[in-house]
Amino acid sequence: MKRGFLDKLRFPPKFIWGAATAAYQIEGAWNEDGKGESIWDRFSHTPDKIVNGDTGDVACDHYHRYPEDIALMRQIGLKAYRFSVSWTRILPAGFGRVNTAGLDFYDRFVDSLLAANIEPFVTLHHWDYPQALYEKGGWMNRDNLPYFADYAAVMVKRLGDRIQCWTTFNEPGVISEMGYGLGEHAPGIKDDWKKVRQITHNLMVAHGLAVQAIRAINPSLDVGIVLSQWNAEPASDDPADIAAAELAWDSQDTAFLHPIFRGHYHPSMIDALGDDLPEIKSGDMALISQKLDFLGMNCYSRNVFNAQGKVSPIQGSEYTDMGWEVCAPAFRRMLNCINNDYDLPPIYITENGAAFPDLVTADGKIHDERRLDYLRQHIIQMRLAMQDGVDIRGYFVWSLTDNFEWALGNTKRFGLIRVDYDTLKRTLKDSGEWYARVIAANQGERECI
Ligand code: FCB
Repeated sequence: MKRGFLDKLRFPPKFIWGAATAAYQIEGAWNEDGKGESIWDRFSHTPDKIVNGDTGDVACDHYHRYPEDIALMRQIGLKAYRFSVSWTRILPAGFGRVNTAGLDFYDRFVDSLLAANIEPFVTLHHWDYPQALYEKGGWMNRDNLPYFADYAAVMVKRLGDRIQCWTTFNEPGVISEMGYGLGEHAPGIKDDWKKVRQITHNLMVAHGLAVQAIRAINPSLDVGIVLSQWNAEPASDDPADIAAAELAWDSQDTAFLHPIFRGHYHPSMIDALGDDLPEIKSGDMALISQKLDFLGMNCYSRNVFNAQGKVSPIQGSEYTDMGWEVCAPAFRRMLNCINNDYDLPPIYITENGAAFPDLVTADGKIHDERRLDYLRQHIIQMRLAMQDGVDIRGYFVWSLTDNFEWALGNTKRFGLIRVDYDTLKRTLKDSGEWYARVIAANQGERECI
């Protein structure tokens, strides 16, 4: 892509440039100030679950170093910051007693963001589920679902006067599939897939209950959910490959989009699930399909299919350190696909970014050209999708800082800012400096990337 082309891409003046993180991945302070145990604390303390035995006990120590992190956000010029709340800091058991010190932490943090002119975008649940609730049957037990709404209510009562955008879940599909199907994430269960599907369904019911609870307290807030969508694409224009990609999308990738935006499961998904179809109680679909104020989209790559199944690797493609193919045009195609198929509220790109092994050079800098190029390509494709008619209001890089990448521990670096895990020193990478220029150039008169 030529530079001249970039200069012509203007963004709307109110476009929101941000970066994202999640509580367990950055906060550390896992047992401080009255915080309860989460399933990720338990999982990372169990031998052989996380690469190198890493844990989130300290992570980036953001809990103590957030003033420095906010100063770095200012240096980049972020307009918004997407973070998640640790449920067990607020309710140590997930229900019942509220821990005021936990609420006070997020209160101070949000005030500091606002003082720096950075808009907080909050996610209520980014995977660190309360261990005590898990022991009461977790997401499988329908009686536990209202606890999520109670937690949402506690948060909105405290911070609803200062946070406009509220997200219920981050990538609920990953919770059920990675946590309860493949067992690679907390709580590390390899259950049968019928249970996994039931949990997926129950998560959507919990989402619906939380949306109701938030609106009952303050109907003027914006409420949404964050989903992960990677386009399903054919390996060639052979009709068999095209059919395979379409079937994969319809039968798997519509798991949340269809219930939330159409009020029922996709017929192809119902066929594919067969006996694994979850039990749907009367009233569930109405709860699940309540109108949302925005949709958060996390997208990193695509899936490619031929008649035999998934194709990987793709010859000639570049791959990130996660083993994810770099294919920015698929980002634009996915956004157009969902925009054509559903009547969507405004979209925020809530996560997009790339892990690459970074090198600190003799000058103390991190010349992370590949990450920078990944971000540049994806921002261009997002802008083209906006030109195609997709209503995208903001973009959040994953991630602000390098952080604890779940089962892969500290081995994958996604940050605009490097974290040295021995000293916890932060260093802005070249990609962070470049992103600062993108944001600066897109303010006021001259808007371009
Ligand atoms: C997403 C997660 C986020 C991070 C990135 C790399 O699926 O939401 O926490 O792990 O992937």
